Amino acid sequence: MSLNFTGRALPDMNFQNLLCDIADGVATVTVNRPDKLNALDARTIGELAACFGELGSNPAARVVVLTGAGPKAFVAGADIGELASLGAAEAHALARRGQALMDLVEHLGKPVIAAVNGFALGGGCELALACSFRWAAETARMGLPETGLGLIPGYGGTQRLPRLVGRGRALEMILRGNMLTAPEALAMGLVNRVLPAAELQGAVATLAREIAARSSLTLRCALDAVEGGLGADVAGGLRQEAGLFAVAASSDDGHEGCRAFLEKRPARFIDR
Ligand code: COA
Repeated sequence: MSLNFTGRALPDMNFQNLLCDIADGVATVTVNRPDKLNALDARTIGELAACFGELGSNPAARVVVLTGAGPKAFVAGADIGELASLGAAEAHALARRGQALMDLVEHLGKPVIAAVNGFALGGGCELALACSFRWAAETARMGLPETGLGLIPGYGGTQRLPRLVGRGRALEMILRGNMLTAPEALAMGLVNRVLPAAELQGAVATLAREIAARSSLTLRCALDAVEGGLGADVAGGLRQEAGLFAVAASSDDGHEGCRAFLEKRPARFIDR
């Protein structure tokens, strides 16, 4: 276990395959099975669910960074050893459990940034897709290789990827099962930025601290407007946006941010 929360007392969480610490408002979660390229076995899925469940309600974690241990992999997929002889009911339950984790990450109510430091394949690509956005190392490789294993993506890839990069690009990736280089992923909008491998973690940490300095109420409203709107038609999304704008604009932080601009001073946000 390596759990070093500075937020509030935690239940005793014994993580075997995760590292998690919080500093300066940023929780960094590292999938830590480097000998298996951080593949998501059942235990790791359970630990990620427990960890994100805690981070969602821990006020010390204002922004979350998700990455993989070692120089080679973010997460190289679901653990193929657990997929080799599944019955239909087991496979369905496995997919639903993985999907529930991805939903938890996507709807955490706080920004979750994927620092894609190497292979992000299959379930690893799906985990990155559930994050708010992704920055990648030049050495990263991303893809959904499941069809080559006689499978299809089952942790949300068939839904999140086309919404992010478009139907044709997603279908090409899913049907070919090829690995994209980081520049290819950048070109199609799968990642937002590509950095030299040695610079990735530092750059993401700086970015995360910058975002963590904003009001968590404001960030929540922005996330809810975008995520809620994606599940609605435009008119419904606009109604949600107006409601959330009203929450943000009428909050103490909304008043403070605008006043601070007018008074030419830094804002002091209080998350209300
Ligand atoms: N599940 C289980 N084990 C995995 C894994 C996965 N998804 N990905 C890698 N590993 C394991 C390998 O079996 C190997 O274990 P071993 O040392 O006990 O034999 C170890 O991680 C290192 O992987 P290896 O294949 O030797 O590294 P490589 O650099 O030669 O190749 C990859 C890297 C990513 C190209 C290759 O590991 C791979 O194709 N992995 C599977 C990717 C995949 O299909 N993911 C989707 C699953 S649905």
